[in-house]
Amino acid sequence: MTHTITLIPGDGIGPEICSAVKQILLAAGLAIRWEEMAARGDVDRRGSYAMNAELIDSIRRNRLALKGPLATAVAGGHPSINVGLRKALDLYANVRPVKNLPGVPAQFQGVDLVLIRENTEDLYAGLEHEVVPGVVESLKIITEKASTRIARFAFQYAQKHGRRRIHAIHKANIMKMSDGLFLNSIRKVATEYPEIEYKELIVDNACMQMVLNPHQYDMLLLTNLYGDIMSDLAAGLVGGLGVVPSGNIGEEAAIFEAVHGTAPDIAGRGIANPTALLMSAIMMLDHIGESSAARRIESALARVSGRGASLTPDVGGSATTSEFTRAVIGAMGS
Ligand code: NAI
Repeated sequence: MTHTITLIPGDGIGPEICSAVKQILLAAGLAIRWEEMAARGDVDRRGSYAMNAELIDSIRRNRLALKGPLATAVAGGHPSINVGLRKALDLYANVRPVKNLPGVPAQFQGVDLVLIRENTEDLYAGLEHEVVPGVVESLKIITEKASTRIARFAFQYAQKHGRRRIHAIHKANIMKMSDGLFLNSIRKVATEYPEIEYKELIVDNACMQMVLNPHQYDMLLLTNLYGDIMSDLAAGLVGGLGVVPSGNIGEEAAIFEAVHGTAPDIAGRGIANPTALLMSAIMMLDHIGESSAARRIESALARVSGRGASLTPDVGGSATTSEFTRAVIGAMGS
């Protein structure tokens, strides 16, 4: 069967790592028609900022996209296109598996956990305004509907993937109403899944526990901001952002992308590491039922990283992106 998938090469190293992943998927025998699209935002006639319609139409039609990183300006400029895409397509669940990859130096070995981050609200609602000069208000939006929806997603994910424990992460001791609503919504859903152990942790303690002993976690369920921060923290424990994939999943579409950014410092030098995007593509293949190709690529990747000879400089090797790509393709045949 031929799959049609929207491909957003992105900025910086995006096109280089997308090209590597396309080659590996082709070598794995997958028939994919890539619909390559640029991601950009435009100011419409009413003066509001919106994503380019062809891109949104393409993802809606294909229900699937693989995405390279996109540059976002800090403190000013246009709103984040990443956040815009998640909102436009209601990709409410951000799934970030964090696991050691053989051969990649890490603070801990044997880590295997999954973070589920609510992807549409919280402080990322983008509702900021200046109250008076020198005073800015940023609104944290938490709704029962979105909290219940992400909780149900997390418990169903646990059931489907044989996970046994979920920690809800919050700061409801201080934000009693907003984080309180998030927690209360999860508690109701948790009663429907008695076979899955349910626990709660305050976010600051959860971070400390994560760096002391990440093995105590199986799954974490978090609001948008805590999820963003704790998933990078968890990535740091297994070797960094270069080896962590993610999926943004909604009812009507899903976008898979590496967690890292555009790496402007190494863009165009041919040394970018495609591993995180390749792992995101493996998640994507599982999502569309191409599990045997997913396992074939996964074990080739594990063999190449375990041998250590063809690693890119960011994980201690000296291989180029092309050498790494050829090694993974070679390992699929061996
Ligand atoms: P970054 O992740 O791009 O880079 C941090 C460091 O990690 C750099 O030294 C870079 O060379 C290295 N690195 C990252 N990915 C790598 C890879 N695949 N192979 C080898 N080395 C790699 O983070 P930074 O510098 O904070 O952000 C740069 C831009 O990326 C910003 O405009 C930011 O907004 C954007 N960004 C986009 C994301 C997305 O589209 N999902 C996520 C994070 C950042």
